[in-house]
Amino acid sequence: MLSQERKIMSLENKNIILGICGGIAAYKSCDIIRKLIKLKANVKCILTAGGSKFISPLTLQTLSKNKVHMSMFDIPENWEINHISLADEADVILVAPATADVIARLACGRSDDLLACTILASKAKVLICPAMNANMFNHKATKNNIDLLKGYGYNFVSPEKGELACGDCGDGRLACAKTIVSAVERLLS
Ligand SMILES: Cc1cc2nc3c(=O)[nH]c(=O)nc-3n(C[C@H](O)[C@H](O)[C@H](O)COP(=O)(O)O)c2cc1C
Repeated sequence: MLSQERKIMSLENKNIILGICGGIAAYKSCDIIRKLIKLKANVKCILTAGGSKFISPLTLQTLSKNKVHMSMFDIPENWEINHISLADEADVILVAPATADVIARLACGRSDDLLACTILASKAKVLICPAMNANMFNHKATKNNIDLLKGYGYNFVSPEKGELACGDCGDGRLACAKTIVSAVERLLS
């Protein structure tokens, strides 16, 4: 029983694409990567233009032990098209932190950056972890966008209530890494 439980907990041979967007919580993606790697997952990061203002690709590359993808238009090392090969190889696409902006882009079916394009092109399970100011999170536009994405079958880990980087207190703090990684495990079990 114990070994069976351990098997479920292992993410060996699982490919996780981790999208990191432009919010203060981007630094928390480091902890998420470390926890996924500890479970033996193969983690490839897609860093949005916004995300790159908050965390360095060098940090993500070093922790994930994989190249960090930032642009759809980088010349690939072989004939493959970046967003299609990432989309095809993913078992789960995890977006943490997810900004209000990326949630809106996904809800519209946009494909104007590598992360949105990869998600649109993929049949993998999608797990979105919003993090933002409480007013942004509680805005009807964001709520409607989240409902739309839930309707497409996307999964969510709700943000926690608490003190936010802007100084406000309320909904919007990125769920803790342990909760997010447990949600990934559940999706794959
Ligand atoms: C200091 C600062 C902090 C921000 N924090 C957040 C945040 O926590 N959540 C969010 O949704 N947007 C936040 N934004 C706004 C996003 O960075 C902006 O909407 C950006 O276009 C997001 O791009 P991306 O989703 O492609 O990463 C912040 C902006 C600044 C300047």
